[in-house]
Amino acid sequence: MLSDLDISTNIRAVDPRKDILPVADLIDLCFSHQMDEDGREYLRHLRQAARNPGLIRWVQGAGERVSYPLNGFVYVIDGEVVGNCSIIPYYQANHWLYLIANVAVQPDYRRRGIGRQLTLKAMHHAQAQGATAWLQVREDNPGAHKLYLELGFEEVTRRDTWLFKPNRPVNGRLPDGVRLLKRQRADWQQQSEWLANTYSPDVTWNLPLRIDHFKPTMWDFLDNFLMDLQVTHVAISMNHQLGGVATHQRTATFADWLWLAMNPATEDTLLPYLLAACRKHAHHRNLVVNYPAGRCRPVFESSGLELMNCLIWMRAPGATKS
Ligand SMILES: CC(C)(COP(=O)(O)OP(=O)(O)OC[C@H]1O[C@@H](n2cnc3c(N)ncnc32)[C@H](O)[C@@H]1OP(=O)(O)O)[C@@H](O)C(=O)NCCC(=O)NCCS
Repeated sequence: MLSDLDISTNIRAVDPRKDILPVADLIDLCFSHQMDEDGREYLRHLRQAARNPGLIRWVQGAGERVSYPLNGFVYVIDGEVVGNCSIIPYYQANHWLYLIANVAVQPDYRRRGIGRQLTLKAMHHAQAQGATAWLQVREDNPGAHKLYLELGFEEVTRRDTWLFKPNRPVNGRLPDGVRLLKRQRADWQQQSEWLANTYSPDVTWNLPLRIDHFKPTMWDFLDNFLMDLQVTHVAISMNHQLGGVATHQRTATFADWLWLAMNPATEDTLLPYLLAACRKHAHHRNLVVNYPAGRCRPVFESSGLELMNCLIWMRAPGATKS
């Protein structure tokens, strides 16, 4: 339980009629230096939303669990929005998870307790709704990390995000005994186990990955077709033993996803060839890989991927469910 909260009267819920532009400006100011194309797209959407009275009326009528991205709190001084935090709801295994995001304070107002108050407010709100609060902070943001630790957030995991840009030169010849193949039906059991190891429920709630949808059955194929989920699997073997399967998942955003199911015993050896195969297969697309922090870093680097960020995933104190 959170103790009695001394939440400032300067904090109020985001009012979509007047806060969208100031919030977009604040997010721009505080995060633009580290934003990818999806982040910039998000800002464009926010600014478009501000010009759309129909959407604003709908958002006001909708419950908070469907009204993202206009759900959260602002800190206001003399009528000016100087701080913001967003709340992004997710539903997993019959439980709501509230991701606290975009915690941002105007530079002139920092170190006065505003970021702390906004985060506390969001934690309190999540608790009141029976939801578990989560947040993600970059490893290279020690100030914010300290703030969240002080509020009792506990680290659950760290994840690297890698970007594989198109047209990177890739390693050529496969060594003797190594083969690239289409994923076979018989590979599924092993693939799903390796996937579940690398992408546990503690992270999948916040990733567009549904491992079940990769099953090699006709039903799943049809299901994916109807849901417009376009995936291609490439397998690699060494001396006739499956070493891993990479799944390329198309998106309509700036990058596609690459999900890696690798045998930890041989991944240092085989991953470069599998990455090279995926690079050739999706040659014109950016590819993003989410992987446990630190795992295979030299392999990713020597294969031409760039580390976009390392995120610390943190959960609110007292929460037991993911
Ligand atoms: C991170 C951020 C929101 C903090 O807001 P803030 O209002 O300055 O934070 P607070 O004043 O509430 O800080 C509370 C405590 O957190 C820690 N802290 C916050 N910023 C810190 C910094 N830059 N360096 C070290 N500690 C810091 C301190 O322990 C601080 O207590 P103290 O001032 O008594 O030492 C703000 O710096 C910001 O907007 N940064 C850019 C956006 C960003 O990185 N957001 C976090 C995304 S996860």
